[in-house]
Amino acid sequence: MRLSGKHIVLGVTGSIAAYKAAYLLRGLVKEGAEVQVVMTPSAKEFITPVTMSALSGKPVASEFFSANDGTWHSHVDMGQWADLMLIAPATAATLGKMASAVCDNLLITTYLSAKCKVIIAPAMDLDMFRHPANLRNIEILRSYGNLIIEPGEGALASGLHGKGRMEEPENIVEEVVKFFSQKKKLLNKHFLVTAGPTYEKIDPVRFIGNYSSGKMGYAIANELALAGAKVTLVSGPVEIKNTNPDIQVIRVESAKQMHEKCVSIFPETDGAVMCAAVADFTPVSFSDSKIKREKDDLVIQLKPTSDIAGDLGCLKSENQILVGFALETNDELSNAYSKLQRKNLDLIVLNSLNDTGAGFGVDTNKITLIGKDNNPAFFELKSKTEVAADIVAAIVSEMEKKRKIQA
Ligand code: CTP
Repeated sequence: MRLSGKHIVLGVTGSIAAYKAAYLLRGLVKEGAEVQVVMTPSAKEFITPVTMSALSGKPVASEFFSANDGTWHSHVDMGQWADLMLIAPATAATLGKMASAVCDNLLITTYLSAKCKVIIAPAMDLDMFRHPANLRNIEILRSYGNLIIEPGEGALASGLHGKGRMEEPENIVEEVVKFFSQKKKLLNKHFLVTAGPTYEKIDPVRFIGNYSSGKMGYAIANELALAGAKVTLVSGPVEIKNTNPDIQVIRVESAKQMHEKCVSIFPETDGAVMCAAVADFTPVSFSDSKIKREKDDLVIQLKPTSDIAGDLGCLKSENQILVGFALETNDELSNAYSKLQRKNLDLIVLNSLNDTGAGFGVDTNKITLIGKDNNPAFFELKSKTEVAADIVAAIVSEMEKKRKIQA
């Protein structure tokens, strides 16, 4: 039984696919999980609470109060009890409410109170699924660190054919098992991650920056946390807000500030992932007052910043893992490998600006992973969350390799 001792809150919403939640519940219970079912009022139109309570062995929670005796169903207690919250099927309405904290039922309040990871399996008709409003809600939920199990393609209840079917219950059970087994791999490990751009001040209103959105670094921090690690994320100025309690965010602005934080934190960690697009140059001097427009050209003298990854490479102990990124435009593989050697990295993640869908601002990335053996592993274009999962899997196997060598 692969889920023995695990506490799972299963949220069920009002979709035709709600009948599949019974099979899902049975699958989770068979694997040894203790499951508390929460149903939205409309879910009860599709499947009865009696079925779900019989299969889970617990009364189903649905209302804030019991109509009989006024007992209060505490969403806070449920949210804290859970090791995982699974919402399957999740309708477009529920996704929208989750994305914007519309707490008009017990499932949404439980979601907002949950301290654990949340896995969501959407189910709806194909046009609803691909509507930009729905896709935007899914992206918002992903950015909060929730895991989305993409719906499959096939025959839909409407008679149409396309993407929108909830993933089959047995595959969702496998995702849940994967979540818990992954979680163990980096338990009690501490990782440092850098993300976003740095801003190098010219005067009180201007700076030198770059287009980095921080999405890749935040996705990596989330995946490391999902794998059980404690994460310290040193972040340049980005718009992303962290909601994951396992990630401590330290906000910095300049390359110098990022360098100071990283050098002081790195020795306490088991490894670092250097995802930030750190400015390579910073102005030699800062003007206290706004530089005025003149007729002549303005020359700003720049000096190199410290190489954070390179300095951590010098500080690195035998047990620590150091992962860097390389954004290259030419001779990608050889440039990336020599960067790995120069900075004493264990792994380098190469993204090429020549690949459509890779690089700054976008939600996707296409990477090549190169280790010390210079044997590149090429990956397809994927969402940044999936790319982050590939990178974390590579980190886990790199740590296992180190452990074997030392044993
Ligand atoms: N990096 C860093 N500190 C810097 C510059 C880069 O920590 N001052 C890290 C990046 O986070 C990345 C790796 O080093 O993980 C490579 O960054 P990149 O900009 O590709 O390399 P550079 O060292 O700047 O080399 P070049 O400009 O020659 O490509």
